[in-house]
Amino acid sequence: ENISQPPVPLADAAAVHPGIEPISFLLGTWKGQGEGGFPTINSFSYGEELRFTHHSSRPVIAYTQKTWKLNSGEPMHAESGFWRPKPDGSIEVVIAQSTGLAEVLKGTYNTEEKVIKLQSELVGNASKVKEITRVFRLIGGDLSYEVGMATNSTSLTPHLRASLKKL
Ligand code: HEM
Repeated sequence: ENISQPPVPLADAAAVHPGIEPISFLLGTWKGQGEGGFPTINSFSYGEELRFTHHSSRPVIAYTQKTWKLNSGEPMHAESGFWRPKPDGSIEVVIAQSTGLAEVLKGTYNTEEKVIKLQSELVGNASKVKEITRVFRLIGGDLSYEVGMATNSTSLTPHLRASLKKL
């Protein structure tokens, strides 16, 4: 039995599926630092790497994130998921977090301004989190984002912000 993947032509593997062209500015590996906080916790800093990859045969971008403590390199939060832009300027994103939380976000992308705005439609298996917002922006070649959340004790408030450089 042959369980290896069939070969994919190199030219196809390197091309961008037309469906993800509008947000292809995300593709690649990004690395940098972030800041976290919330009214109920102490603020903190972290290192972070994001990867957005795709294959030309499918209109979807695979996403992985990992974070670490700046002083020790010890792993912090991690997550991964899939980004699915649609031709009408809407987008849906599904993410599984290392804490066990699962989220489905919906929103919009703007290709000219290189901005993606997401709002949770579903937050599952969360003890405190009620709602999540994520905004990504390409600014001067850097990828920056803000994450907001609402919990059972606090209305929608920023939790994370980071700025990442393309590797
Ligand atoms: C605390 C959610 C991403 C680090 C928390 C809390 C929640 C939460 C609910 C507790 C707040 C409270 O007790 O009132 C989330 C969600 C995330 C996310 C929904 C993604 C959408 C991250 C990331 C990091 C991080 C990426 C690290 C880089 C922390 C730290 C605390 C915290 C250090 C405080 C200490 C602790 O409770 O463990 N987060 N978080 N979080 N989060 Fe996040």
